[in-house]
Amino acid sequence: MAELTLTGKNPHELRADALVIGVIKTDDSAQIAGEPLPRAALKTLNGQLKALGVTGVTDEVLRVPAGDSATAPILLLVGLGTEEEARKPESLRRAAGAALLRADGFEKVGIALPLDLDASQAQAAGAVAEGALLGAYRFETYRAQDEKNPVVHPQKLELAVSATRDKEIRAAVERGRVLAAAVCGARDLINTAPNDLPPAIFAETAKTAVKGTGLKIEVLDEKALLSGGYGGIMGVGQGSSRPPRLVKLTWSPSKKAKHVALVGKGITFDSGGLSIKPSSGMETMKSDMSGAAAVLHTMIAAAALNLPVRVTAWLALAENMPSGTAQRPSDVITIYGGKTVEVLNTDAEGRLVMADVLVAAREENADVIVDIATLTGAQVVALGTRVAGVMGSDEARDQVVAAADKSGELAWPMPLPEELRASLKSKIADIANIGDRWGGMLSAGVFLQEFVEDTPWAHIDIAGPSFNEGSNWGYTPAGGTGYGVRTLLTFLEEVEN
Ligand code: BES
Ligand code: MN
Ligand code: ZN
Repeated sequence: MAELTLTGKNPHELRADALVIGVIKTDDSAQIAGEPLPRAALKTLNGQLKALGVTGVTDEVLRVPAGDSATAPILLLVGLGTEEEARKPESLRRAAGAALLRADGFEKVGIALPLDLDASQAQAAGAVAEGALLGAYRFETYRAQDEKNPVVHPQKLELAVSATRDKEIRAAVERGRVLAAAVCGARDLINTAPNDLPPAIFAETAKTAVKGTGLKIEVLDEKALLSGGYGGIMGVGQGSSRPPRLVKLTWSPSKKAKHVALVGKGITFDSGGLSIKPSSGMETMKSDMSGAAAVLHTMIAAAALNLPVRVTAWLALAENMPSGTAQRPSDVITIYGGKTVEVLNTDAEGRLVMADVLVAAREENADVIVDIATLTGAQVVALGTRVAGVMGSDEARDQVVAAADKSGELAWPMPLPEELRASLKSKIADIANIGDRWGGMLSAGVFLQEFVEDTPWAHIDIAGPSFNEGSNWGYTPAGGTGYGVRTLLTFLEEVEN
């Protein structure tokens, strides 16, 4: 991840390759936000904005030569939206991100986004730091470097704030750093090619990542899963030559704290199994472990911020492959705790691995369970590619949606209609793994509900927002988005003790 420091210097004096400044959309044209440049230069630039085609709308980024107006040779003009929009932390986050996503060619970038537009300067500084670091993310693991013509990415970011010693500002910026590091960590896992990230390697990566954090980690291998009765994870993983794993993470600041259980779907590749997907539907299925990636990195961030809440988290890791050992449509498996499931479609595998772990989470008597999963294509049909669907018991569901709103992630509450339970009836087992196709996101939620029983619970379906198949927007790059980390972390921060 790029490095971000605070500076009390005047923005126009920053020694950088480019300087980010904000533009506000006005009724008749646009205007530079705040006073990042000397008066005279500011006046000249404001007078040129219209002719430059700068409107100040969200996600607009334009490079112009700085001339004598600043030490940095280039200005990156980024849209903040209208004055009212620009007051929101999410607008600052998004503008900082959009600027850094388009800052290739510059290694050192100064940032002079107005931090006094919002009531709280600390909150605004945190949002700018978070957005800038999220936008500076690049995934270059697999690309050969052109030695003669290396691609330069933003590496060193300097954020201009008027009060660098202010404790609140420092804390908010540090939180932004921790959050961005966690989101970027999740993105790296999601973007990693699935041949390089089978369940065992994912578990090893988790072990390495939590070293020195204060988190406790336990890994169940296939033998332990078999003897432990985890029939869902074993059934899904049995077709792959690369066996499943269950990772359990614990953060316990004190015994008295409220106890939250987090559960992440970690299908390292979803081919559909014997109910195989068409190749077009398989292309992005390395991202079917996005829930587990989000949970892992939320835990790391929770520990880094020393949150006063007890958290137990599980990553349900398996690869869903067709083979002579794969589970068959019509197999009956036994979920942890004893309920049986008739597997009518092996592509509805997420709910099987989640069922095991939801029961395991219930056993720990957590006050609330939150699960996150790339569970259904129907989620994308219902809400599109950017908005997650949130289901569950009323209070927990609404708290998760509120946390998403606060964190800048898009989420919407969805119902769990009682009548859908009948569509999940099996002729021979306790429940079947597919139900009504209409409202498929909800059928999957109703399936999961069967395993949480009456524990307060929220289920987040992130099939759409977990992976960006389109182009960059705001601070969201193409590929793995790291969706969920910020919602989960904000949820943990808001838990009342
Ligand atoms: N991993 C998929 C869901 C998915 C689809 C995630 C698109 C991201 C983008 C899940 O395991 C799946 O295949 N679900 C099936 C369920 C169906 C067989 C009931 C689906 O949605 O088609
Ligand atoms: Mn599937
Ligand atoms: Zn899946």
